[in-house]
Amino acid sequence: MDKVRIGIAGLGNMGATHANCILAGKISRLELAAVCDVEPARVARYPQTKGFPSAEAMIASGTIDAVLIATPHYYHTSIGISVLQAGLHVLVEKPISVHKADCERLIAAHRDPRQIFAAMFNQRTDPYYLQLRHLVRSGEFGEIRRINWIITDWFRTGAYYASGGWRATWAGEGGGVLLNQCPHNLDLIQWIFGLPVRVRAFCRCGRYHDIEVEDDVTACLEFANGATGVFITSTGESPGTNRLEITAEGGRVVYEDDQIRCLRNTVPMSEFGRTSPEAFARPETVPGVITAPGHGGQHQEILQNFTDAILDGAPLIAPAAEGIHSVELANAMLLSGWIGQTVELPLDAAHYERRLQQRIRESRFKKKAAVSVAATDFAKSFGR
Ligand SMILES: NC(=O)c1ccc[n+]([C@@H]2O[C@H](COP(=O)([O-])OP(=O)(O)OC[C@H]3O[C@@H](n4cnc5c(N)ncnc54)[C@H](O)[C@@H]3O)[C@@H](O)[C@H]2O)c1
Repeated sequence: MDKVRIGIAGLGNMGATHANCILAGKISRLELAAVCDVEPARVARYPQTKGFPSAEAMIASGTIDAVLIATPHYYHTSIGISVLQAGLHVLVEKPISVHKADCERLIAAHRDPRQIFAAMFNQRTDPYYLQLRHLVRSGEFGEIRRINWIITDWFRTGAYYASGGWRATWAGEGGGVLLNQCPHNLDLIQWIFGLPVRVRAFCRCGRYHDIEVEDDVTACLEFANGATGVFITSTGESPGTNRLEITAEGGRVVYEDDQIRCLRNTVPMSEFGRTSPEAFARPETVPGVITAPGHGGQHQEILQNFTDAILDGAPLIAPAAEGIHSVELANAMLLSGWIGQTVELPLDAAHYERRLQQRIRESRFKKKAAVSVAATDFAKSFGR
């Protein structure tokens, strides 16, 4: 096999972007061999490619080696399981599923290690987040004491929410900003710092938009070593902020405005606090700034990595099984908001699924008919 024949399920904003990228020859040894969408007009936009009215028909066609799933999230589980059962490789968009129990079902269907099963966590390719991960994981800054991430630059308009009947409903999407925009950030949290053990969150539904799910979240996290965290997100604030501050024994690291600014303590802060004879002294610090030429290969790099994993056995940047962590974190935040209490991790997956289904049953929200809007510059929506 010298190339991978991929089929894309779902040709909306993201699926079409992936399709166009592959058709433009940007991914070496990856061929767009098939597409499918439940809307025939979207399939018809790709006359040069075999088109199918459903993922099932595309999977059964024998024309592809792999499927990229870019449908609304709930279908990631059902289509993903079908693709894995058919013995094909899978690249699934984030979130890998809507809730933890579905993640477990999807991951359990991956039985053959020769099948490549990856997730589109494109922000893992960003040199700034790679640097932050290195700084934390190498222990260069010592033990982490606190993280603060204000990630409120996911601004979305009412037209965005009206652009798909599935969007921002419990039945169609299973959540709001935590399930749509923040899977990236929640994945980065667990990828850089590990999962917290406790979550207390305040989730405001429809604070800024006419939607029934959360568009404004403030969450407190507690990690196994006692480190704490605050995670703040919203799709209603503009210009919004993306500021990640890490407080560690070895100093402070702040990522904001395409810069990582470090202040390194010459003596770890707790040791200094214990040993200094002076009442108002503090450790001396050494400043440093880390910049990068850009934000990395993003979606294209994940597509190339997926292809290279299939053809050459390259290690995956984002194995899909790791996608359960960001979903669990999102679910824990929502559950904490619903019950007004702290939620312990690991989350009880069955309990969460029941609570979500109850919300779906009890929903009285009437979504206005989906309207077609211009995706003027979809690339701008990716955030950092
Ligand atoms: N990685 C990223 O940066 C990124 C960015 C945007 C969206 N996404 C993800 O991509 C997915 C799609 O988001 P979008 O914004 O493109 O949505 P969208 O509504 O624009 O597109 C979804 C498409 O899927 C089709 N579809 C629905 N059900 C289907 C089914 N059962 N089989 C085949 N096609 C089906 C719809 O007709 C539509 O064309 C979501 O899970 C989202 O989280 C990822």
